[in-house]
Amino acid sequence: MKIAVLGGTGNIGVGLSMRLSIAGYDVIVGSRNKEKAKEKAREYETILKSMGYENEIEYADNRRASELCDVAILAIPCEHVFSTAESLKDVLEGKIVVSPAVPMKKEGKTFYYSPPPEGSAAEKIASILHNSQVASAFHTIPAKKFADMKAVFSWDVPVCGEKSAKEVVMEIVNSIDGLRALDAGPLSSSRLVESVTPLLINVAIRAGMRDLSIKFV
Ligand SMILES: NC(=O)c1ccc[n+]([C@@H]2O[C@H](COP(=O)([O-])OP(=O)(O)OC[C@H]3O[C@@H](n4cnc5c(N)ncnc54)[C@H](OP(=O)(O)O)[C@@H]3O)[C@@H](O)[C@H]2O)c1
Repeated sequence: MKIAVLGGTGNIGVGLSMRLSIAGYDVIVGSRNKEKAKEKAREYETILKSMGYENEIEYADNRRASELCDVAILAIPCEHVFSTAESLKDVLEGKIVVSPAVPMKKEGKTFYYSPPPEGSAAEKIASILHNSQVASAFHTIPAKKFADMKAVFSWDVPVCGEKSAKEVVMEIVNSIDGLRALDAGPLSSSRLVESVTPLLINVAIRAGMRDLSIKFV
């Protein structure tokens, strides 16, 4: 199965690209700029090689990556993810699309969940990509620790969406060492999951904690 990590050059894209490659998926690093995607793909291959993996990581601009993939992860900042989805909706038709997007605003020293009128980022993306199967996941993964290939963790990943897409995305999540996918309901439940991220950040800032995630016990 081919997974395109659109914006795979950024914070959360690092861990997603390398860890999904290790899990056995054909990964395509997507970017607005093909040369940047190439540079990052080579960088990820070099890190994997130092760990004993000979994996090849593909690269392409976001449009080509969307054409080639079975599943696309929109690893793009929330303020740009909707316009990116709009610009790729023809090539994402029929594909499974995963949103990790968390719409937040900061007031003083505190982060708040700031969803669009559709209810959540994932629902807004689904309203744009109405011919794709949209699911949401990875909102509570701390990118820096996830990118550290020496890091050991045990985190839960709530996954939202309709059954068929959700099943595929849960399998993808479970393929990554240290992650456990949990069914969090339909896409409309994504608002509950997305809103946890600002809570994690607020606690982390005040308690001087780093790389907070979630675990259901
Ligand atoms: N960071 C975290 O810890 C974390 C955790 C969970 C979920 N998330 C969510 O994951 C998503 C990505 O977060 P991130 O921190 O990885 O983002 P990021 O590093 O700031 O950006 C990711 C990539 O998005 C692309 N990008 C930047 N501006 C763009 C624009 N105007 N149009 C299209 N693409 C653009 C860039 O790729 P190119 O320049 O190569 O095109 C960039 O490398 C967000 O929705 C966020 O809410 C983040």
